[in-house]
Amino acid sequence: MGQILLTDVRKKFLDYFKKNNHQIVESSNLVPNNDPTLMFTNSGMVQFKNVFTGLEKRSYKTATTSQKCVRAGGKHNDLENVGYTPRHHTFFEMLGNFSFGDYFKEQAIIHAWNLLTKDFQLPKEKLSVTVYHEDDESFKLWKKIAGLSDNKIIKIATSDNFWSMGDTGPCGPCSEIFYDHGEKLKGGPPGSPDADGDRFIEIWNLVFMQYEQITKDKRINLPKPSVDTGMGLERMTAVLQGTHDNYKIDHFKKIMGASSDLLKLPINESNIASHRVIADHLRASSFLIAEGILPSNEGRGYVLRRIMRRGMRHAHSLGSKDPIFYKLFDILLNEMKSSYPELITGKELIIETLKNEEEKFSSLLVRGMKILDENLTKVSNKTFPGPVAFKLYDTYGFPLDLTADILKGKGIKVDNVGFEKEMEKSKALARANWKGSGDKAVEERWFKIREKMNPTEFLGYEFDKAEGVVIKISKDGKFVDSASTGDEVEVITNQTPFYGESGGQVGDQGYIFNSDCKIKINDTQKKMGDLFVHYGKIEKGSIRIGQNVNLEIDLSKRNNSKAYHSATHLLHESLRRTLGKHVTQKGSLVSPDRLRFDFSHNKPIEKEEMEKINNIVNEIVVGSSEVQTRIMTPKEAVSMGALALFGEKYGEEVRVVFMGKENNGFFSTELCGGTHVKNTKEVGKFKVISQSSISSGTP
Ligand code: ALA
Repeated sequence: MGQILLTDVRKKFLDYFKKNNHQIVESSNLVPNNDPTLMFTNSGMVQFKNVFTGLEKRSYKTATTSQKCVRAGGKHNDLENVGYTPRHHTFFEMLGNFSFGDYFKEQAIIHAWNLLTKDFQLPKEKLSVTVYHEDDESFKLWKKIAGLSDNKIIKIATSDNFWSMGDTGPCGPCSEIFYDHGEKLKGGPPGSPDADGDRFIEIWNLVFMQYEQITKDKRINLPKPSVDTGMGLERMTAVLQGTHDNYKIDHFKKIMGASSDLLKLPINESNIASHRVIADHLRASSFLIAEGILPSNEGRGYVLRRIMRRGMRHAHSLGSKDPIFYKLFDILLNEMKSSYPELITGKELIIETLKNEEEKFSSLLVRGMKILDENLTKVSNKTFPGPVAFKLYDTYGFPLDLTADILKGKGIKVDNVGFEKEMEKSKALARANWKGSGDKAVEERWFKIREKMNPTEFLGYEFDKAEGVVIKISKDGKFVDSASTGDEVEVITNQTPFYGESGGQVGDQGYIFNSDCKIKINDTQKKMGDLFVHYGKIEKGSIRIGQNVNLEIDLSKRNNSKAYHSATHLLHESLRRTLGKHVTQKGSLVSPDRLRFDFSHNKPIEKEEMEKINNIVNEIVVGSSEVQTRIMTPKEAVSMGALALFGEKYGEEVRVVFMGKENNGFFSTELCGGTHVKNTKEVGKFKVISQSSISSGTP
């Protein structure tokens, strides 16, 4: 029998759970779209967070995934260990099975034991487990199901056996499964003083989700006991390939083989840490860039920069003078593209970003290393001076953990307090400060009412006015039965022609009225994806739940928004044709009086390019062709070349907008829920009036 490859392990895991009635769900993005408190998706359960807490319903009660994860920055941060151990990663895949109020401890243990000992054929004597010290039930279940002896079911009292996603969110006691790599390696069983060695390795964590941490001091029960499990794909592959070193599995052998060839440096004990770092950081960087994150000095972009620069420093320490990461990307692409097509779509942007960042950093790195070496004489008490570390950060673009990583090899620490003091003093630099995910905070009160209500029916593609029934009224953040003159209200009706802000297009304005009242609507927002909330002020009379009302949008504003939205699509395609296919939309604003289009590109647009961009759009406008929309599955849409937005979640059906007839198709094909002109001529004369750059990424 040949060796089981990483891709086979992934498939076997998912197939096992599919066979056992679990829905295979695609990995969600690394940038979570349902949690403003989390920097990156750090485990398989993140996309299901609201399903566990009962705020979101899905059509299935059991699921299985192979989830992309990044553990760098935030509660689960492994960055500083990567390279120095055989099993830490910043980027990895977590295999998992989930029960949302369906099965609980017993079935979770049965599945785990069957998969490991039957499908993966691991010898029982190699396995041991831990349980939370108070969890007698799990102890007994392991005895009953797996027939493990008491000394192989170890009770652990620490937080190691109580899992939580972050400071808040679903959590619960857990039971971990360990594999014994044998006496040749140092290390003791879990719970023993030398548990951190390489011999006994955790391969699977079964979390019995029972609680939700609301604040630091408040924990409540989940609506139903649930299950969340996590198995590191790379670790499990290592076990099945007979090694304890994740970096020796087929997948990493290929990437590290390529870096070793490129650097003409065979891998040995003295350089393996750097080779591991290069392989790991190439993966993390490529996947983050594929989601549109670019290196910058803030938030997620800064974590990406730290990862990239740490990787580059290791390449440099192996003697690399020229950028190498972008040259290694193709090998990663070949390895991963069948499971992660975003690497294909993002290829040009990834290669260009890797190359640019490495070029930009290389001379700073050389000069910074010189300063660092010169200052080694100032080291006392094995501590490197904080002000110098700050200078390296401020002037040479050395993230603090990069300096720490360099000094680690020499047994020297950085004076972090001294560094922070300098940082505080420096008003010139905004602190690398995480301010939330940029995604809208999930508002719990909407979650709650959404459960009891149908989605709002949107009539606005066809109609400017309609009748509706008032379903909810909210005033001062509370739901009320009625409201009257002067009140600022939020109104939900069963159906509406008002477009709710999304896809960059602002919400509609207009009036809601009947013979008793008149409400001026200033904005419309979508909550929970399909609940349309009208924001307005009652100008006259009063409004009650259950009343019939007329809803009428401000047509001239909507018509302008339509024209700008259609222009956005034309601009998007024109940018791609002029600047290159790497141009992808990162965001946009479409309002009745202007449009702004955000996209990833590494340099300013030249004058001639800008003229070309404008001309292309105007040609389509004067071409006066009909704009068409169709509803189809995301798969069909993508096969027709539709551009989809990174980070957007699409349902089973999507709306696709086609513009500008061309010989064998359309000039622009995009997934879009927005409102559009009927004919391109309605866009009118088009001109970009300014461009600016955000997160230009210095130094
Ligand atoms: N969420 C659990 C973990 O990450 C399974 O270990």
